[in-house]
Order: sequence, then C-alpha cells, then structure tokens
Amino acid sequence: MITQEKIAEIRARASVVEVISDYVTLKKIGRNHVGLCPFHGEKTPSFTVNDEKGIFHCFSCKAGGSVFNFLMQYDHLSFPEAVECVGKRYGIAVERSGKNRDSGGEADRDALYRLNECAAANYHRVLFNDVLGRRALEYIKKRGIEESVARRFMLGFAPPYGSGLLEVAKKEKLSLKDALRLGLIGQREGNRFHEKFFDRLIFPIVNAGGKVIGFGGRVLEQGIPKYLNSSDTPLFRKGSTLYGLFQAKEAIRKRDRAVVVEGYLDVIALHQYGVDYAVATLGTALTVEHVRALSRYTKNVVAFFDGDDAGSRAAERSFQIFVEAGLLGRAAFLPNGEDPDTFIRARGKAAVEELLDRSVPLADYYFASLEHRYGKTLEGKSQIAGEISRVLQKVRNPFEVDLLIARAVDSLGIREEFFRKPLQSSVPPKPPLLANRRLSSSDLGNRANAAERSLISLILRYPRIAGYVFEEADVRQWVGSAWREIIDLIRTEWQEHENVDVGRIVQAFDSEVAAQIAALAIEGENVPETESQKMADDCIAHLRRKYLREQERNLRIAIRTAEEQKDENATRERILEWQEIVRKERQLERRKLAPKITAR
Ligand code: CTP
Ligand code: MN
Repeated sequence: MITQEKIAEIRARASVVEVISDYVTLKKIGRNHVGLCPFHGEKTPSFTVNDEKGIFHCFSCKAGGSVFNFLMQYDHLSFPEAVECVGKRYGIAVERSGKNRDSGGEADRDALYRLNECAAANYHRVLFNDVLGRRALEYIKKRGIEESVARRFMLGFAPPYGSGLLEVAKKEKLSLKDALRLGLIGQREGNRFHEKFFDRLIFPIVNAGGKVIGFGGRVLEQGIPKYLNSSDTPLFRKGSTLYGLFQAKEAIRKRDRAVVVEGYLDVIALHQYGVDYAVATLGTALTVEHVRALSRYTKNVVAFFDGDDAGSRAAERSFQIFVEAGLLGRAAFLPNGEDPDTFIRARGKAAVEELLDRSVPLADYYFASLEHRYGKTLEGKSQIAGEISRVLQKVRNPFEVDLLIARAVDSLGIREEFFRKPLQSSVPPKPPLLANRRLSSSDLGNRANAAERSLISLILRYPRIAGYVFEEADVRQWVGSAWREIIDLIRTEWQEHENVDVGRIVQAFDSEVAAQIAALAIEGENVPETESQKMADDCIAHLRRKYLREQERNLRIAIRTAEEQKDENATRERILEWQEIVRKERQLERRKLAPKITAR
C-alpha cells in the first residue's frame, strides 16, 4: 500500500503533459496539448492533454483519465506501479507500507525482475559471445532466424553444464532463494544448487512493459520435452501472458490488428518477415485474459489455427473466449501440416496477409460447427438455440448481442424473442433507491442521466460553476444515488483548492469510468462560459423537478396505502407532505417560465 498522502504529493507535483510527453509528441493548442493517440492508430491528432485539469482524453477512441491511468494503460502497470513510476520521474521516493517478503512486496518484486533480467542477459551473452553458444547459434541459423531478430527477442542459450548464473547471482548480490522462487535454479539434497535450464535455446518471456517475467527453453534438435517453460511464479502466469506482446504492441496499435499463433518460433518468423503484430500463447489454449490483454491495443484480433480437425475444434472453442472478453474474433486457417513459421518462410508475408484478409468471423465458424454437430433437424436446431442462448448471456456489448441474435435468427428460423427473453430476465434488479452505488459506466452512458452528466460536465469544465452550484443548491440530494460520490468529491476539491483537479477525482474510479469522466471534462459542446451558468441552472431545475416528481409519486402511493389501512392520522400527514411537494413543483414551474417572459 502506498499512503494517500504520497499519492496526493505525487499528483500535485506531476504535470500530466510532462509525463505523457515522454511517450507522445504533444503540441500546445489553446489550453490543451494535442498529439497522435498512442492507444489507436490515427493520422490526425485527437489525443488531448489538459495540464490544468490533470487529465488526458482521446476524442476518437475515448481513452482517458489521470496521469496514472495513462501509464496503467500505456505500460500495463498496476496503480501502485504507475504511482511509483511518476514518483520516480519527479524524484519522489515511494516507500510502501505493509511490505512483506512472502506476499511479494514491491521491493521484492524488483529484486525478482532484476534476477530474471540478469539471467536473460547471461543466456544471451552465452549465445552470442561464448564458445559454448556456438552449437545454438548454428541451430538458429539453420532455422533461418536473423541475428537482429534473435537480439530483438533476446534469445539466449543455456549450455549443458550451466550458464554461470549462480556465479553471476553471487557477484551481483542477488538472492539464490529468489532464484529458486523464479524457477531459475533447483536445489538437490546436500544443498547443492543447479540451474534448471540446460542445453536449451532460451526464449525470455517479457511482459507488455518489457520486463522479463519467465523463460521458455527449447532443446536443440531432438529431445523430450521439446519445450520447458518457467512454472507460474510471482511474476509470471502462463495463462495470461502473450509471447511477443512487448515487441508487437506498437505495430498492433498502428495496424489496428493483431494475430495470435501458438509458438515462440512462429512469432519470431512472423516478425522477421514483417508480420510484426503477431503474438503467441505459451502452450496453453487461448484464455479470456489473453484476449482482454490484446483488446487494449486493438479490437481486431485474428487467431491462426491449423488446417486440421483439431484446428477447427480450437476455433470453435475460442469463439466463446472472445465473446467473454468482449471481442468478436476472427479465425485464419493454415494449410494442413504447416505452422506460421514454415508457411511464412515458404510463401512470404503477402501469403500470410492474404490468409488474414480472408479470415472468417469466429461467430460464423461457431454457428457452422454447431450445425455440423447437432444437425438441421428440429431437435438439432433447438439444441443449437439453447447453446447460443447460453453464450448470449455472456455478451456484454449490446451491438454484439444484436449481431449474434440476427445471425441465429437467420440460420435457425427461430423467433428473435426466444433469444431476447432470457436476456431480459437476467438483467440484475434495480438496486434499492437509497443505497449509494458506485458510479458505473452504464450510469454515464444512460440517457436518463443526461442532466446529471451535463451538470458534472459543466462543473468539470468551468470550475467557477462548481462554486456556483455548491453555493446555490444542494444538488446532492436531487441526483441519482450513484452520482453522489462524485459530487462529494468535486465539492471537497472545490472547497479545498477553489479549483477542480479532475485527475485527482478520476483516481477514485476504475479506469473505464475515469476515461468517461475525463471525456466529460474535455469534450462536450463548446459552451461559452457565459452560457454555462444558465445551462447549469437548467440542469439543476431539471434534476429538482425529477426528484420532486418521484417524491410526489411515492407520496401518492403512501396515501393510498394509509387509506387502505384506514389509518386516518397517517393519511392526513401524507396528504400534507404531498401538498408541500406539489407546492414546490408549482413554484419551480413558475420559475421556469419567469425568465422566458422577461426575455420577450
Ligand atoms: N509447447 C510447450 N511445451 C511442449 C511443446 C510445446 O510449452 N512440450 C508450447 C511452446 O510455447 C511452443 C508451442 O507450444 O512454442 C507450440 O509447440 P510446437 O508447435 O510443438 O512447437 P513450435 O513452436 O512450432 O517449435 P518448432 O518449430 O521448433 O517445432
Ligand atoms: Mn514450428
């Protein structure tokens, strides 16, 4: 845990423009700095950074948030890592409380990263600069791997009798216990340490931020097992890691496309021949986490499958994985007996890209395979419909739901309602009115909340309006409960600084909501500041009216209940309350009309 004070100190010190300028070329235009968005490929700049508000926002892809959100998204850091990174840039040391060796405290993680880095560098040195590496160097030549690519992927060699890792660790004062945890070494009886990888070509596995988190090792020529991978460690989880993502991420963004393959050597060959947006799973089937990781860079993901039956089955399975990760993926199939490595070496980049261009939506594939499995009989169709229904429950994006339903209706001839009904009943019940919910992305997107959204947007764009709103009206009670937290946060900001640092506000929310709030603060019609007060008035009046209408309705129900129970006292009280509400409503109506009359 980093203390709140520390986070506040770093936020106050950091300039979001300075930090983002380390990654993106920004140009000052008016109050904002703009540049080409690093989160999607674009030719005209829609990426906007506002130093005053402490946020960034892309008008085009809607990425946005605080300086920390930027680093979390750009380098895939956790929040504490992002805070630390910004702290480091401004020379503010971040010491973490509750640091604990076993729970993997951050200082501890640094030591683990350093060890992996050392090991990788050492294997790399052996491959290129040691006679012991000669056999391996010949092997990669024979496989057609160019030296520049081998270096880009930091390939290395663990020789048969050790790479000298133990000595390096000693010299660098790195802990052997850590090396054990990372699976770099083992310990036999008699306490003797030995290296885990030997006589293998080494593929360091790096995370999206470029840090070495694990290793894969391939035997030269024959041998069993062909590959040996690090087991899961505090730094590495096989099921969520994509090999090559670090090397591919820029290309994926630029090309707005990613391709997923199975093997280390497939990624390496694809990159060497110019398909530099390729990544690989690590000997596991594709997982939802894999697809989610990719979806941060592009929505267009093509998975490469073998041309055989096993490949078809894998394609069918992966549809559901994609859907759960919020993407509609595509499948490309290789000719039988080829893998991407052999194929691109034989046929070249253009042939691979042609296969990718001809890729099939996984949905098509999924539907076809269902038909194949269940047949076109009545019974078969009903089984298919059942399966599709189950999958639909997992689809979050309404657009995708529509697409899939249309597709199912089309191929099965089943009424649309069959698929819609279960979806409606699975919508979670509305939370009770008074409970304070967290603001969610759907609150921000919902049309019914237009007044709340406009008001927040005005306050964030023109801090002066914040003062006006908080002094004039107790908006808090009139907004939907999910909005109270953000109103309170803004009010505190205003009261403490007479200004609203949006970057600080968005810190309280998850990254999706943070991006939407950043959008509210930067986007929006260009209201002249003079108009803004009037607009705020309109929003407030609207919220108040909505609130009163709801109160009025509740009281009418309460009156009827009291009457039914023949409780005269209660009836009378409720009626008085009701009259008071109606009076307020009328007053509000009059006020609404007043300015219009004087304006004429
Ligand atoms: N794999 C593994 N363990 C094995 C075999 C395979 O972890 N015993 C993983 C590796 O990540 C490997 C991928 O599955 O890269 C694909 O395996 P395979 O197609 O057998 O190997 P290739 O990558 O094609 O390697 P090569 O071309 O050298 O045979
Ligand atoms: Mn291969």
